[in-house]
Amino acid sequence: MCGIVAYIGHREACPIILKGLKRLEYRGYDSAGVALLDDNKNMKVYKKTGKVSDLEKEIGDRDTSAFTGMGHTRWATHGEPNDANAHPHLSGDGEFAMIHNGIIENYSSLKEMLKGRGHTFKSETDTEVLIHLIEEVYKNNAVKFEEAVRMALTQVVGAYAIVILSKNDPNYLIGAKKGSPMVIGIGENEHFIASDATPIVEYTRNVVYIQDGEIAIIEGTTLSIKTIDNTLKTPYIQEIEFNLENIEKGGYEHFMLKEIFEQPKSILDSFRGRIHLPDARITMAGIDMFEDKIKNLDRIVIIGCGTSWHAGLVGEYLFEDIARIPCEVEYASEFRYRNPVVKESDFVIAISQSGETADTLAALELAKKKGATIFGICNVVGASIPRYTDAGAYTHAGPEIGVASTKAFTAQVTALILMALSMAQKKGTITSTRLHEFLTEIESIPAKIEQVLKTDAQIQLIAAELKDSRNALYLGRGYGFPVALEGALKLKEISYIHAEGYPAAEMKHGPIALIDEEMPVIVIATQHSNYEKVVSNIQEVKARKGKVIAIATEGDTHLKDMADHVIYIPNCEEALLPLIATIPLQLLSYHIAVLRGCNVDQPRNLAKSVTVE
Ligand code: G6P
Repeated sequence: MCGIVAYIGHREACPIILKGLKRLEYRGYDSAGVALLDDNKNMKVYKKTGKVSDLEKEIGDRDTSAFTGMGHTRWATHGEPNDANAHPHLSGDGEFAMIHNGIIENYSSLKEMLKGRGHTFKSETDTEVLIHLIEEVYKNNAVKFEEAVRMALTQVVGAYAIVILSKNDPNYLIGAKKGSPMVIGIGENEHFIASDATPIVEYTRNVVYIQDGEIAIIEGTTLSIKTIDNTLKTPYIQEIEFNLENIEKGGYEHFMLKEIFEQPKSILDSFRGRIHLPDARITMAGIDMFEDKIKNLDRIVIIGCGTSWHAGLVGEYLFEDIARIPCEVEYASEFRYRNPVVKESDFVIAISQSGETADTLAALELAKKKGATIFGICNVVGASIPRYTDAGAYTHAGPEIGVASTKAFTAQVTALILMALSMAQKKGTITSTRLHEFLTEIESIPAKIEQVLKTDAQIQLIAAELKDSRNALYLGRGYGFPVALEGALKLKEISYIHAEGYPAAEMKHGPIALIDEEMPVIVIATQHSNYEKVVSNIQEVKARKGKVIAIATEGDTHLKDMADHVIYIPNCEEALLPLIATIPLQLLSYHIAVLRGCNVDQPRNLAKSVTVE
């Protein structure tokens, strides 16, 4: 969490930094700040609690002239969100300024040591400790600024992506990374540093992804990279994969709405080139390379957090149902600390939109140490998880900016469906005729989603009726259960209405006690294997005066007399249900949140990329 952006070049730095921070606000938005360093060695630091727009107001028409600068948008870890704790932080003598994404785990012992040497601190942050440490190393060793940074970092335990400015060297920008993301944009006689490429893409497509333990030194117009052990590295320049329009709202009121409506395309992009219909074949290089292992595979473990965990639960159903491979899905944060049994023969799949989630990464490291084959399903190209895994599949959903995940979820599910089918084919648990049927159905999904999106106006009316609810229950069975969980999570995240997802039959073991006329119950009741049983569950809700909103299969006339509202979705293969049934629930949450006046794209307390445990 926290977004960092920095610039050095021939343009005014401040507008570039503020625009960049807005693009990174999905990473945190409880306070923001900039440090601007002009050629006369004046360091101008402005910071403010709140969003980047509050910082802009704070800056007003104050002096921002500078060709070098950096900015930060914060998601608080150490110290509450206030002006003092906002970044940038300064060294005691005001010589150095720093922005930081991550956590310095040994900050308290470093702080004690520094206090003993006369340092005093203005904030409660770990970041301020680190910049004082750099100051201390600089003072005590007759070394250059960049060398002081390197030496100080050898004493640090924790995760960081930092950028540092030195007042006496306006020609210098230094970045360093371990555990938190950092990318350098290389323009013509100008450089950018950011947490991801979104603040950079409108200026240059050439980027270098900084690796853990590396320090980027930009001196004037020259970039050099060295490791913390002082070894010089050759920068590996890559091209940004997406375009500017992918990260703009494109006429939609919110990114979330845009991303919901993008799903016909993002799902298509996830399976494009991987399906060969004529000979009923799937190409997934990361899976194909393990053909022999898969033939004898006796366990898959899926790890993830949040929405990615829900995709993982769909994965569990798919791998067992279609490929007949035992599968477990685990919360990464639990898995990493519960001393799990991991065997060398295991195939461990990490699912992560950002590819940076700290718990998922740590769980993966644990599985790798225990000798398992590790595989990543990620959306962000070049992120930490795809770099760490033995193999993987990108979801190709394009940048997802709304904090509540929508298109990334359906793209993850698409990748899992293809993986399960590919494994089934390798293990011989699916006939080629059946596989052909499946693949044909997958190809029809984008058009079916277009059809579901047409229910938007009806969903808006239902949202108006539900907007003042205090609780909501989401029920589903089989493939409908992960959908129910994801529907409930979306509502909680963006509208702050308490919501629970439950396996429909489990309702009798607790949640039924909550049902009264005030309680909306959203039920995935499509005509699949558990249909009759779900219909009975609906009757149980109605008998207790609950308000039922059913997601039903088009043409189902039975439910309309039973439910208060029915949202019809096209029929599909049962295993593909999560791709379609999730869409109306995303729209319902979105409209409820808008009607409640919530900040849909930046819900309170949440961040898109959780790089702390
Ligand atoms: C945060 C985000 C969620 C996301 C989860 C896992 O909580 O707000 O939308 O599902 O992290 O993130 P990942 O990037 O690993 O999928």
